[in-house]
Amino acid sequence: MQPSRILVGVSGGVAAFKACLLVRRLRRDGHEVRVILTRSAARFVGAPTFHALTSHRVYDDMWDPSAAEGGEPHVDLSAWADAAIVYPATADLVARVASGRSDDLLAATLLCLERPLVVCPAMHARMYRNFFFGEALKKLRLGGVTVLEAEVGELASGEVGEGRLPEPDAAVEALYTRMTAKDLGGLRILVTAGPTREHLDPVRFLSNPSTGKMGYAVARMALRRGARVSLVTGPTDLVPPRGAEVERVESAAQMAAAVHRAYEGCDAVVMCAAVADFAPAEVSPRKVHKTGGPVSVELRPTEDILRSLGERKGHRVLVGFAMETDDLEGSARRKRAAKNLDLVVGNDVTTQGAGFGTDTNVVILIGATGTIERLPRLPKEEVAHRILDRVAALAAERRS
Ligand code: CTP
Repeated sequence: MQPSRILVGVSGGVAAFKACLLVRRLRRDGHEVRVILTRSAARFVGAPTFHALTSHRVYDDMWDPSAAEGGEPHVDLSAWADAAIVYPATADLVARVASGRSDDLLAATLLCLERPLVVCPAMHARMYRNFFFGEALKKLRLGGVTVLEAEVGELASGEVGEGRLPEPDAAVEALYTRMTAKDLGGLRILVTAGPTREHLDPVRFLSNPSTGKMGYAVARMALRRGARVSLVTGPTDLVPPRGAEVERVESAAQMAAAVHRAYEGCDAVVMCAAVADFAPAEVSPRKVHKTGGPVSVELRPTEDILRSLGERKGHRVLVGFAMETDDLEGSARRKRAAKNLDLVVGNDVTTQGAGFGTDTNVVILIGATGTIERLPRLPKEEVAHRILDRVAALAAERRS
């Protein structure tokens, strides 16, 4: 995301403490942040906390002349913001916004705002299900507001139900999605991510150190840009992005089956998964005990999924990865040709800041014409955007 000016509204619920983490994340991402607290929010989290986190004064009073840059605080703040998020939004705040009220600084600023707005309601499950609250939420949507639905989970009361505030990362993702142009709208993209596990017996498997970060970044950025995303993922600790159709698999054979199922309806495939090339020829249904002597395991090749996809490619855009330790460019070129790919993303895992588990990657992009683009070390999200730029251009060519 380009550094932007983000207005964060905090209203008075127990979940207001999570707004501190949201603000911190936004600042870490390079944005300028201003916080408006309602009177009841200030009972849960004090202004000094947000002051420290934003390095800026906190706005909590409609009638404080020092809050305005020269005009009125609600007019100035709404004109300053590139986008706004209310996190958490109480039932009262939702009702006031939906009925066009302007009875405190937050409501007045939102009424004046002509930029993207994301509202994240949180409350007890019985309030969340209430008819009048539901009507107010519908009105917000009709008015062009993005509503991030509350989650089912543990509530402040200790009960479990709908109404829990989604974690800050989910709220930030909803905000960024709202702020991003939808140049991949109408495309269905299949993304694979993570490692596969090939079991020897119920307690042992062969695998690799892939964490899924690259694939999840591609899925998240594609969703932000308006694509419909099917994510086939091997075992990872990552939380799949909201809005993706997710299929969890373990072995290469399961990944192949899931990918072939999703392939028919998709326009592009970005195959980030580190699929095992070999699997034990025999899987013992019971734990294999040691005998003291050496053990040998016969391995058989797994299906090269991408190669199979390349053999019946049709109109689809196919992107593969080549993870290498030697002769990166030569291997990447060979894999592109052998698997009939439109684009191969090559990286050398011995390069610092590239490969398994890192938040950055250093890649080369080689297209079907053979031209090579060398990207510097970039966050995986940025690498994902560069790949998706190519996918968008190729898909547009195929359509025309
Ligand atoms: N891939 C696949 N199925 C496999 C192995 C790999 O679809 N059984 C895909 C990967 O997801 C990646 C690309 O093929 O997009 C290249 O994977 P890589 O492991 O670098 O290359 P391999 O084809 O396995 O070749 P080699 O082992 O000779 O390096």
